[in-house]
Amino acid sequence: MGFKEKIIPDKLPKHIAIIMDGNGRWARQHGHDRIFGHQHGVDAARAAAEASAELGVGYLTLYAFSTENWNRPKYEVEALMTLFVETIRKELDTLNKNNIQLNAIGDLKSLPEENYNRLMETIEETKKNDRMVLTLAMSYSSRWEITEAVRRILSQQDTHQYKAENITEELIAKNLNTADMPDPELLIRTSGEARISNFLLWQIAYTELYFTQKLWPDFTKETLYEAIVDYQNRERRFGLTSEQIIS
Ligand code: IPE
Ligand code: IPE
Ligand code: MG
Repeated sequence: MGFKEKIIPDKLPKHIAIIMDGNGRWARQHGHDRIFGHQHGVDAARAAAEASAELGVGYLTLYAFSTENWNRPKYEVEALMTLFVETIRKELDTLNKNNIQLNAIGDLKSLPEENYNRLMETIEETKKNDRMVLTLAMSYSSRWEITEAVRRILSQQDTHQYKAENITEELIAKNLNTADMPDPELLIRTSGEARISNFLLWQIAYTELYFTQKLWPDFTKETLYEAIVDYQNRERRFGLTSEQIIS
């Protein structure tokens, strides 16, 4: 029996987030340039999106490019930006055919103009799709996002008259880029690294973390099913005791 058959439909995570890591190492293992790994990473991202939509996952968030990734060699950053623009353009029909809405989080204004425009157009052209929301985290970092949220709250102060006691968790969450989505129940990271790398720090307070040795271009639908089955076998206690959860 494969992992897919073991998935309990009623316990499916509504939101899965993925740190797609290991493209460079995968390319090196295959005797190629890092860019070759990124190109193959696109197929893995497509598989993750297809599998999630087929299962009925409502939100899939992919960490595609971090704030810190801007400091990579210029040629790699440029190749990644070109790859993003081409991929978004190529996948528009597939997104619409599969009824998937595209969304993006991060400091999008810092993207090259062509990337920004293409992203906004595709978001607009898929906005009526309601099977799944596919969010790309681009030029994203969680500390940037939280800092932005604080700035936004302070700038609204004149109209809303915020007092210290009015600053709530809900208010902060509402001012994050992820305001319209539930927190992820499951976060997957590939490539064997057991770290978060500035991704969704606020939102993953109680998320189940799943680390796999697989390098991102080797990620398949089956890898996703395996992660979901692992997640479904965990007891999420949210600070309570096991006895409280069972009763
Ligand atoms: C993930 O793969 C893709 C991005 C961060 C854009 P890497 O490029 O980080 O690959 P490794 O971790 O160096 O193998
Ligand atoms: C995290 O991968 C960012 C993305 C997957 C986009 P990195 O390869 O940049 O993370 P570190 O540097 O290993 O922590
Ligand atoms: Mg990496």
